[in-house]
Amino acid sequence: MARFDVVDLIRTKRDGGTLTDDQIRWFIDAYTKETVAHEQASALLMAIVWRGMEPNELSTWTVAMLSSGERMDLSSIKAPTVDKHSTGGVGDKVSLILAPMVAACGAADPMLSGRGLGHTGGTLDKLEAIPGYDVDLSGDEMLRVLADVGCVICSAGPDLAPADRKLYALRDVTGTVESIPLIASSIMSKKIAEGTEALVLDVKVGSAAFLPDISMARELAETMVKLGEAHDVKTSALLTNMDIPLGRTAGNGLEVTESVESLQGKGPDDLMAVTIALAQEMLDLVGLKADPASTIEDGSALEKWRAMVTAQGGDPDAKMPEAPERRTFDAPDGGFVAGLDARAVGIAAWRLGAGRARKEDPVSPSAGIVCLKKPGDEVEAGEPILELHADDPDRFENAVAALDGAVQVGPEQPEPPKMILERIGP
Ligand code: URA
Repeated sequence: MARFDVVDLIRTKRDGGTLTDDQIRWFIDAYTKETVAHEQASALLMAIVWRGMEPNELSTWTVAMLSSGERMDLSSIKAPTVDKHSTGGVGDKVSLILAPMVAACGAADPMLSGRGLGHTGGTLDKLEAIPGYDVDLSGDEMLRVLADVGCVICSAGPDLAPADRKLYALRDVTGTVESIPLIASSIMSKKIAEGTEALVLDVKVGSAAFLPDISMARELAETMVKLGEAHDVKTSALLTNMDIPLGRTAGNGLEVTESVESLQGKGPDDLMAVTIALAQEMLDLVGLKADPASTIEDGSALEKWRAMVTAQGGDPDAKMPEAPERRTFDAPDGGFVAGLDARAVGIAAWRLGAGRARKEDPVSPSAGIVCLKKPGDEVEAGEPILELHADDPDRFENAVAALDGAVQVGPEQPEPPKMILERIGP
């Protein structure tokens, strides 16, 4: 492979130029092998944040990241394979309900998930609240669970897009996450490497989303859909509301309990609206004629959930650990809850111990927040709106500070929030 001087690449991007295919391939390879210094890679990433990428640069960058590792082979799976990926939200437990639902409809969902960082939760952290649940499966184990059950939710092994693992860790500490080409290439390199036939993207819009603005979320969705299609993955995206926390809980074990209740038919309207819309979109992409909502009514999705948890070493009947310390956050006035800011709730849950500040930090399985009231609910002055759960009472002060101004109460009952904002795809 040709060798380049990374300073030339940084200068080119800084000044608004275009990188060549060879320069991009060399950089991704060199950074993965750690022969480019972190400060130089950081400078290049920041130049990309400011200058963006041309479509050809983005395509080459994504393929280089994908080619830094292995591509999974799902050809042994008989059912059509389809996955969902969310750009990250607060209370976003959709994967736990949706993977069993689509499996119950006859699809196979090979869901490789991540951990939470900052105010957004991670699916693996939630599942690890279940005693015994193993997220670290080998490739063979993953295929076995997928073939037997129809869904598997586990971590991506070290050989799947290792360039992204390194670059994402660097972006996280250098303020270079918020870039459409960098987010799109990061997500799509992993999802294309996963080997799924079809993919539905849940692109969050609102206060707790990476890109809060709808026009940027739309551009991100369009960029990812094009990348998927260019690599023969049938891809579509839904833009969904992330101004309010999804469902009634944010926190690992709390979200598992809410997911199981949702699989039992007791899910809150906003969470079920997003989950069913995404599940329907997945089934449509692979041409399966089925009604995902019926899998809740007839108990088949719950059966798939129990089978998946058991196959991954977990106890589906185990009660989630409960936090010993509780505190309420009360309504400032009487009236109707008009707003509940998802970002503030996410930061508060994180400060309570549900999330991590650094990748290597542990998370609490029991800390988090229960939303006793959501927008549209009536409250009296002083009535609890949120219930904060923590292992250590010292955590409350900082968490409550994050909630300053997060709740609005007004005299009028607001309309229920629109959850599905747009669809992007073929
Ligand atoms: N999720 C990812 O996997 N990558 C990003 O860059 C942002 C969110």
